[in-house]
Amino acid sequence: MTVLKIARMGQSVLHRCADEIPDPTAPEIRRLVADMMDTLEDADGAGLAAPQVFVPLRLVLFHVPAHRASGADDDTPEALTVLINPVLEPLGDEKEIGWEGCLSVPGMMGAVARHTHLRYRGLTLEGETIERTVSGFHARVVQHECDHLDGILYPMRVTDMSMFGFAEEMRERFSAPADAAVD
Ligand code: NI
Repeated sequence: MTVLKIARMGQSVLHRCADEIPDPTAPEIRRLVADMMDTLEDADGAGLAAPQVFVPLRLVLFHVPAHRASGADDDTPEALTVLINPVLEPLGDEKEIGWEGCLSVPGMMGAVARHTHLRYRGLTLEGETIERTVSGFHARVVQHECDHLDGILYPMRVTDMSMFGFAEEMRERFSAPADAAVD
């Protein structure tokens, strides 16, 4: 088990555009994913993007825990998904506000508007195309993770800064869920 160090906001690797992965089936990519899975499990997050472990490549992994899924047809629990070179396509203009946290911004929490409905596409470790239409938490976690690939951290998306702060205080003031953290 290899738990990698997680970069915190301010590290340059989190504030640049990550590079495309030319060969998703390369052994070093498989190794990276295995280490990221160990890291995600250790940190108890819903997702992790490669730049968060100091690797500037377009790779994210995430899962949708049962208690976070709304149960809608396109927001059901999802086992761990590895997505390489992902492309997101928002469906419609509808957005919803939700609480997010980030392993790279420890101890903080903020309310972020995200597209409610979304189609995404990417490659698996086998180099196969994966395409899904999702909503709710599934859509939120993918948007949060893929933002990491473009150097965007969720605090940059908080529009009402009175709804960004230390997690403990936010939970108390807004009765926010205890597990708001996305990654
Ligand atoms: Ni994050």
